[in-house]
Amino acid sequence: MAQFALSLLTALVALTSVAQAQCGSGSPHATVTGSGTFTANRGSTRVYSGSDYRAAIQAALDSISTGQRVAVMASGSIGANTITITSGKIFEGCGTINVASRSGRGAIEVTNANDVQIPYLTMTGSPYFGLRFSGTRNLSLGKITLNLSGGLGIRFDRDRAANYNVKMDDIRVTGAGSHAVETWNIDGLTINQVIARNVGECGLLLQKTTNARVGLVDANNAGAGTGYATLRFANENGRLSNGRYDTNVYIDKVVSRGGGRGIFCVSQSGGAVINNVDLANNGNNAVLIENCYNVSIRGGTVNGGGEVRLAARSEFPNNRDIWITLRVDGTSVRESPCGENTNWSLSGNGARNIC
Ligand SMILES: *[C@@H]1O[C@H](CO)[C@@H](O)[C@H](O)[C@H]1NC(C)=O
Ligand SMILES: *[C@@H]1O[C@H](CO)[C@@H](O)[C@H](O)[C@H]1NC(C)=O
Ligand SMILES: *[C@@H]1O[C@H](CO)[C@@H](O)[C@H](O)[C@H]1NC(C)=O
Ligand SMILES: *[C@@H]1O[C@H](CO)[C@@H](O)[C@H](O)[C@H]1NC(C)=O
Repeated sequence: MAQFALSLLTALVALTSVAQAQCGSGSPHATVTGSGTFTANRGSTRVYSGSDYRAAIQAALDSISTGQRVAVMASGSIGANTITITSGKIFEGCGTINVASRSGRGAIEVTNANDVQIPYLTMTGSPYFGLRFSGTRNLSLGKITLNLSGGLGIRFDRDRAANYNVKMDDIRVTGAGSHAVETWNIDGLTINQVIARNVGECGLLLQKTTNARVGLVDANNAGAGTGYATLRFANENGRLSNGRYDTNVYIDKVVSRGGGRGIFCVSQSGGAVINNVDLANNGNNAVLIENCYNVSIRGGTVNGGGEVRLAARSEFPNNRDIWITLRVDGTSVRESPCGENTNWSLSGNGARNIC
């Protein structure tokens, strides 16, 4: 008992050293307060006062040093602009940060920086990218709520430096015109959950991302009328640097309702285990696996929606080492062409046309 209490205490202390239990609690090193007129203070030193919300936030961030924390208590609009967070800084968005689209850019960006933490953030508006990252190490995102009216939620860039050791806790995205979360070039990714509602493309899209562990991906109405999916692996996702596809992408659970596809693996991705799925009424394939290697779905259900399909495009080698254990009701299962070393364990009433 005493030992349990002690280890619990140790765990709690370890947690609080990373993130405060509540946004802005404790003693942040700098704050942004006000409404209409904003004040940024570092300790008791005023570093900005005026009507420019973005300038107030950036001044607060620029005033702290590594290991220190900014709490933005005020709500406001930054317009079509970018907030930049540099190495070692902790950013808490406690008010609601409204944003607009700056072409090709993020409303908040972290570029070539280590140990940035964003424990809390609430964003509204229509950004190009809500959060944009590249070249990060030990990036940590906590409770992030993006209630958008367009744009892409969280994006790790395709054509810039890779990222190592990225953590995300609780990511909630509504109303994005594109993906809720899109990664490229991450080695070492841990996500607790991504919850997407009414987004134009994917819930979670992983590309060139290895050594990933994801708890839950839950999307309702992601990618309606498109081939995008609640969970999509693409562009050699899970392919290790030695070219192999040993399992390195672990997904605990995928829940998908309506939208486009449920799960879509494509373009030489793989090395993935999905433990459990709950997919219903997807407007496109409930599951589509196309030119993927060493992928398994270990259990769960598909209820209605588009067919569960193993397919191949001629430009890449055929599927191989696909293991699917699944209950499929109210829709069909088709494997065409036959994959190499496919292993089906199917139950449910769906028609089958498999090899
Ligand atoms: C990242 O975190 C790990 C521990 O999780 C630490 O060993 C490493 O030094 C950190 N890297 C950087 C660049 O801060
Ligand atoms: C964001 O959306 C959620 C769910 O619709 C809602 O509960 C919350 O109040 C919204 N927050 C803001 C700041 O818009
Ligand atoms: C699939 O991944 C497992 C590790 O999880 C590995 O043992 C196996 O060799 C891989 N299979 C292929 C064909 O790559
Ligand atoms: C097929 O998968 C099941 C688990 O779902 C496993 O027990 C069985 O050995 C596999 N069969 C082959 C031929 O790989």
